[in-house]
Amino acid sequence: MSKLWGGRFAETTEALVEEYTESVSFDRALYAADIAGSRAHAAMLAAVGVLTADEARAIREGLDAVKAEIESGSFTFLTEREDVHMNIEARLTEIIGEAGKKLHTGRSRNDQVGLDFRIHTAARLTAWREGLRRLVAVLAQRAEEHRETLLPGCTHMQPAQPVSLAHHLLAYCAMFMRDAERIDDALDRILVSPLGAAALAGTTYPLDPGAVARELGFRGVFQNSMDAVSDRDFALEALFVGSLIMAHLSRLCEEIVIWANPAFGFVRLPDGYATGSSIMPQKKNPDVAELMRGKTGRVYGALMGLLTTVKGLPLAYNRDLQEDKEPFFDTDRTVSLSLACMAGMMERMGFVPEAMARALSRGFLNATELADYLVGKGLPFREAHHVTGRAVAHAEGRGVGLEDLSLEELRGFSPLIGEDVFTVLDYANAVARRVTPGSTGPASVAAQLAAVRAFCAAE
Ligand code: ARG
Repeated sequence: MSKLWGGRFAETTEALVEEYTESVSFDRALYAADIAGSRAHAAMLAAVGVLTADEARAIREGLDAVKAEIESGSFTFLTEREDVHMNIEARLTEIIGEAGKKLHTGRSRNDQVGLDFRIHTAARLTAWREGLRRLVAVLAQRAEEHRETLLPGCTHMQPAQPVSLAHHLLAYCAMFMRDAERIDDALDRILVSPLGAAALAGTTYPLDPGAVARELGFRGVFQNSMDAVSDRDFALEALFVGSLIMAHLSRLCEEIVIWANPAFGFVRLPDGYATGSSIMPQKKNPDVAELMRGKTGRVYGALMGLLTTVKGLPLAYNRDLQEDKEPFFDTDRTVSLSLACMAGMMERMGFVPEAMARALSRGFLNATELADYLVGKGLPFREAHHVTGRAVAHAEGRGVGLEDLSLEELRGFSPLIGEDVFTVLDYANAVARRVTPGSTGPASVAAQLAAVRAFCAAE
């Protein structure tokens, strides 16, 4: 088959080379973006007088027909036509004839592919944003249910201070809301149209790149044609946003894996989100959380891969850039499915407050409370810390918690201790008495929930 670019070639392309260089097997995913971009380009060409209104209308109707063929499954993508752009253009010309051959006036595949990929990336990131919103809504709902549920807050994975489960879940809401903000921010740069840069140097036709950008809902237009056709910052930013979403999901997965271990028993996995063992009948494994943690690696790999692809490229377009799409498509699939799975899993997650309460009484999570109590009685903090440490060692030796020691025993460590110490040693009070903004205290948790609800309700 003769190539759209075949004028100067005497011999045909090797079959092996066609297989090696084609991108239509994957970039067909850009078909809707390609058609939207071409429709906008044709309208602009007519507006500036490069095409007649009739030609532009024929092109736009022809593109709609191509789109209908693709969506009904009757379109045949041909490897010999290399990529999605030439498959669509060739079919357009088959359908509408001469006018189809004028579509590519003042355009190169270099600015075309940049535009298509930006349209696609923006649409997918907008879908991620919706996935994040849904996940945050689920986490907020669970947080609302568990304002009173307490569990050991950890540092170094060691028991530290009691926190409410609501506060713990709201920490993840904060991460995912930042991810959504990052998407909004990245969209400002993704939605900059490169169309009109042509191959690399602009064109002699009086194009109006702003008109194309407006028709497509973009926020801006390229400043420099060489940058426009070779910039993949936008794809890298998308991969970074995806990487961070996966990092946050993966941290939550790690907690789920630990909490589901019977030694913790803080959660019972929903049956629909767990799997069994082919040999051990008792098993209920957190495979969804494990896979999500594992898939995080391949998303990071996509980011590292594309960073490496672009690092040595001279200006302007280089074919290396065709390697930008598969990492993003793969990342998109992973991020989209992971967000949906996490929302579903957390919606049905069985939290076990009794197991969390049992764990609270092991690990001296109220030791800081005792130290602070002694400070309240006039002891300098360093001394209070030391006195409390001795009380902890004593209680540990007896195999009990600080709250299980008698008043006499406690007074053995400091005569400042009185009956009121037991109120302070109570775990629920430790949480209820936290007053600082952003803390696990009830006023802070209520404020956090209000902010999360506002985020979920926005737009
Ligand atoms: N398939 C190509 C890509 O993804 C489209 C641009 C090709 N441009 C070219 N001059 N060969 O980058």
